[in-house]
Amino acid sequence: MSRLDEFILRMQAQRACIDEVALRMLDHPGPVLEVGLGNGRTYDHLRLKFPQRAVYVFDREVAAHPDCIPPAELLRLGDFRTSIPAYAREKHRPAIFIHADVGSSNRAASTRLAVELAPSWHDILAPGACLACDQLIEHEGFERLPLPGGVVTSQYHFYRCVK
Ligand SMILES: C[S@@+](CC[C@H](N)C(=O)[O-])C[C@H]1O[C@@H](n2cnc3c(N)ncnc32)[C@H](O)[C@@H]1O
Repeated sequence: MSRLDEFILRMQAQRACIDEVALRMLDHPGPVLEVGLGNGRTYDHLRLKFPQRAVYVFDREVAAHPDCIPPAELLRLGDFRTSIPAYAREKHRPAIFIHADVGSSNRAASTRLAVELAPSWHDILAPGACLACDQLIEHEGFERLPLPGGVVTSQYHFYRCVK
């Protein structure tokens, strides 16, 4: 499989997870978190699919397409290892979805980052809420779900929060 094939599958998995959560959590109140704004592509899809919800966005910097800049009050800049626990301490309503696209070209560092962040993600989410992540999460509070939409890739992972 080429890197182009892998990229396309990852994008399909992202979209399928976001679309699935929009239906699954329709009747459950709560915000959505985008962890990794990047170019803003998945943020753009999240705000389209969750138009009535606050979508909090995390990154160390804003380097997104000009059409995909989140409102300042929902933007949390800084290292995830600081900004995510800080958000958890603010005691928001439990979130219904965390979309975490945190990977870089350094695979080992990306894996370590997700291991570090998983406990805070668990604190932030409501019971039954969803996590979609580009990293494999091994945490007892996350139950693995199959990727929706028939997408088959080992590069994206879908979980339900158990509490
Ligand atoms: C794969 S990109 C996100 C792509 C984005 N979801 C999109 O659709 O365009 C990952 C992002 O995570 C950010 N990032 C990675 N590690 C971080 C860290 N420790 N703290 C804050 N931001 C981080 C990077 O700056 C980058 O923008």
